[in-house]
Formats: sequence, C-alpha cells, structure tokens
Amino acid sequence: MTPEPEPTPRDWWKSAVVYQVYPRSFADSDGDGIGDIPGIRQHLDHLENLGVDVVWLSPIYRSPMDDNGYDISDYHDVDPSFGTLDDLDGLIADLHARGMKLVMDLVVNHTSSAHQWFQESRSSRDDPKRDWYWWRPARPGHTGGEPGAEPTNWGSAFSESAWTYDPGTDEYYLHIFAASQPELNWENPEVRQAVYAMMNWWLDRGVDGFRMDVINLISKVVHDDPPDLRDGVVGGPDRQAGPIDTVRFGDPGPYVLHGPRVHEFLQEMHQAVFAHRPAGLLTVGETPATTVEQGLLYTDPARGELDMVFQFEHVDLDSGPGGKWDVVPMTPADLMASLARWQEGMGDVGWNSLYLGNHDQPRCVSRFGDDSPEHRVRSAKALATVLHLHRGTPYIYQGDELGMTNAPFRDIHDTRDIESHNAYRAALSRGLDAEQAMAAIRYKGRDNARTPMQWDATEHAGFTTGFPWIEVHPDHVTVNVATQADDPDSVLAHHRRLIELRHQEPVVVHGSFATVPLDDDRVHAFVRRLDGRELLVVANLSSDDALEAALPDAADWLDAELVLSTAGQPDEQERIVLGPWEARVYRRG
Ligand code: NOJ
Repeated sequence: MTPEPEPTPRDWWKSAVVYQVYPRSFADSDGDGIGDIPGIRQHLDHLENLGVDVVWLSPIYRSPMDDNGYDISDYHDVDPSFGTLDDLDGLIADLHARGMKLVMDLVVNHTSSAHQWFQESRSSRDDPKRDWYWWRPARPGHTGGEPGAEPTNWGSAFSESAWTYDPGTDEYYLHIFAASQPELNWENPEVRQAVYAMMNWWLDRGVDGFRMDVINLISKVVHDDPPDLRDGVVGGPDRQAGPIDTVRFGDPGPYVLHGPRVHEFLQEMHQAVFAHRPAGLLTVGETPATTVEQGLLYTDPARGELDMVFQFEHVDLDSGPGGKWDVVPMTPADLMASLARWQEGMGDVGWNSLYLGNHDQPRCVSRFGDDSPEHRVRSAKALATVLHLHRGTPYIYQGDELGMTNAPFRDIHDTRDIESHNAYRAALSRGLDAEQAMAAIRYKGRDNARTPMQWDATEHAGFTTGFPWIEVHPDHVTVNVATQADDPDSVLAHHRRLIELRHQEPVVVHGSFATVPLDDDRVHAFVRRLDGRELLVVANLSSDDALEAALPDAADWLDAELVLSTAGQPDEQERIVLGPWEARVYRRG
C-alpha cells in the first residue's frame, strides 16, 4: 500500500526560495528576439540545479505590451509573443514534475485600455461597465482637455498627470501608471467578483498562487463632504508616492495607498479564492509605501489577507522628494538599518519577503554592492548572504544569481521602458539636457534589470538566435550561466549553497533575528536563534579591506563551525577581520 502523502503545511513557503522569471528577457525559443514560454521550459535544469522551489512568472497574458505585460487586455489568454495556453499548461506540468511551483502575476489594480471591459466602459456614460473604472468630469469651472482641468492634481507613477481626457464622453479616467493602464474601480462589487472568478479559473488550471501587482492601491479614498476625490499636497514633506514627482504634482499617496477598504477587499478575496482550497498556494502582495505596522496587518495569518508583502522602504532609500529620478545618496548602513527594522518589526506575527532586485529595480550588485571588476563577485555574494539568511522568503531575480550588473546604456535609444521614456521626456521639458536626464535613468532605469538573461558567451548570450528586443549586456562574455555552473567560487554556486542551507537548517527559516550593533557602519552582524542552535552572519558591506567585526563574543564564534564564507577559510585569527565584501556564517549549538 502506498503511504498517504505528508500533508503540506499551510506555511510551506516559509522554507521556500522563489525565482522571478521576466519572460520577455529569459529565453527566446523561436528567434523573434522576445523570450517565451517554450524558452523557459528549455531552461528548467538551471532552476532545478539552483534549488529554487517556486517560479514567479511576470505577466504572460495577452497585452499591447505598453508596460511589457503589466497592461493586460485578456486575463484568460497568453500573449502570442510568449506562446499559447498549451505552452503554459506544459510549463506548469514540467515545474510540478520537478517539484517546483508556479506563481502567476496578478495585475488587477488596472487593466490595459485595450481590455474589453474598458472598451465598453469608455463607450458611453450610460454603459453598464462605466462604473468599472474611475471616470470624472473636468474640474468645476474648466473645460475638459484644457490644461489644469484634470479632476485632481495627482501625478502618475509614469510622469505627468494621473488623469487622461477622453473626448468621446467628455470625461477623464484615472491611471496611477501609464495612460493605457486605467484603474479598475474596486468599489463596484461586479469588478471584484469578475477578478475572483478569474483567479479561481487560474488556480483550477493548476497555478500555485499569485504575486499581486500594487495590490495596496485597490481602495481609494472617496470623501463624503464634499463628495469625491481630493487634490493631493504639492511639495509636502511627508510624501508617500514612491516614484511620483510630488514637487510638480499633487501626491495621490494618501488617497490611493492603503485605502479604507483595502483590508476588507483582501479578506473578501481570501474567502472567495483561497480559504476553501487545500494548502500549497502562495500569495505575495506588491505594496509600495508600506510601513511595518501596515505590513503586519496584511500578513498576520489570523486576518486572512496575504502570506507576505513586498515592502519598498529599502528600495526607496535613494529617492528624494522629486520621486524616483531625484536620486539621493544611500549607504549599506542605511540598507541594513531598514532591513533590520522589518526583521524586528514583523516578529512572530507577520512574514517578510526578502528581495534586493526585480524587474522594476536596477541590478542589486550595481546599486547596493560594487560592480567594478575587482569587487563584483564578492559584493554579489556578500549581499546574497545577508539577504538569504534574514528571516523571510527570499526572491531571486533572474540574473542576480550570476551577479549581473546595470547596463551601459549609451543614450535613451538603448532603453525600451515606458517609464524611462516618459521620465526622459519630462526631464527635457523641464530644461535638463540629454546627459542630465540619462544620469538617473542609467542608475535607476528598469531596463537595467531587463537586458537578456546571460546563458553563455556566444552572440546574444544564448538568449536568442535572432535580434534581441533590448541589447544584451556586453559583459555576457564573462558573466554567464555556462561559465559559473561548474565553478565552485561563482556567484551562482554561492546562491546554491545559501538555498541548500535554508533547506537544511530550520534556524534559517524559523529562527529569531537579532542585530549585533557594531561601531563600524560598514560591518554588519546578526544572529539567528532556534532551540539552542545559533547562526552568526557577519559581513563587510564595503570595498575597504581589513575591517574588524568587533563582536563582544568574537573569540567564541571563531571556535564555532564556519558553514559558509565568501572568501574561503580565513587564516588563524583571534579577531574577526574581514576583507572587502567578505561575509561569513558561523554555526553553533
Ligand atoms: C508594478 C510592476 O511591478 C511594474 O512593472 C508595473 O509597471 C506597475 N506595477 C504597473 O503595473
């Protein structure tokens, strides 16, 4: 008799590692220069060898691709550039056969303006779906379409106003992102039911959960007296708006982030979609401008909302009051202090998702590490060590397991992203010259993370046999999967060891977290503890040599087992002295 399979605990994702695939840039199977689902299926050995448990697939739905698929025109079909529904079913089956799961991207704060729902909604003020989106007349005393007539002064995340005038019905519609991404009106129960039905359709098809795009924006503040949406503060000190330029526009943050019904909607979604299903699913909400207190509300299992959230505090550290492109300095100490606040704050109630990069952020080694030839490998390993050994579920963005770096964009023509193009245009219209406008885009533009995955040293990095939709990084000749796969000192091998350690050591998954304060703010240390087992992580997050991690009990730790190191076995030491970007992990108990 075959034994009953072990029941999967509902929080299986605590010991899991997630790998994000950005399909457009992962692997192209048919030579059209755009990555696709068959391409992903050809590279599953890489994911299995790395040891990841879950793949998060950025959107593959039918889309005009204004925002590379985050503008969905049909939630029930695959975009032909990525393949077919059969290809997707095949991918799900392949992953399941290898013991991995597939999490889809769920983009339901907005649709594409090409979605049937919006087409109907915009067709007339009396259409039954009119209220599925946010339509408003021109500001009182103004004529629709003239400057300043927008219903509120809100800026959008992709530059300029959050309202677009639609002459057909002489009203404006709201879009916090591009004009082709109108916001769905979650106040309307029909919208919510349509979304839940679609989610159930995908889960019934075999997907294992959702990463929910900007899910904390689904409830807006609609005032009673006077009724309606209100102007935001311009140039306020407490801006909440992440990428939005709140120097030139009103800050929509207080009206669209964590709105009054967001928890009610998420609880309703949980009941309608997840609660009745067996264990094994994962939900992660993308929640910009979230505080620890809000993070606890979203992820406390007793509340039935989300398993975890992507908070943005650490990726907003280098943004000034002018928004994302207003770059301000940030140090590794700022990064570590922010991450530690989340580690301590989420405690035993909530759960963190751990990430340093994704398709919206520059490459983490270029931003938080040192991507010079001398320090790239070391700093990529040190950052990964710190991240993976925090408490939470780690997310690896494709290529970060190799230490891929920001791209050397020559000018705006090398970039493809709607966000960068809009920002560039806005910067020029404010009087900046091309080089000034490019400086921020080179550092922070999202295309940095979207250059093709580097499989080998051949032309186009083995990504495509055709002409890639965006140029391959020239460093693919040295930074690629083929050269790292069998090299025990590679960034890739280091990621493999970190994942293995999480899978073997309950202290990595469940242990408590405590920062060890040190005088030198280039050196960081924390201890994880569980049932008498202790792990110490020490890291020099700088390119400076010979820095001491002056822990009070350093001598004791030096006698403990060194389980992982980014710089081999250290010489006999009486103190913990670290080389540039050196990280070590000691274990005892
Ligand atoms: C967040 C997604 O990650 C990003 O890529 C997208 O542009 C916006 N949401 C709008 O969907």
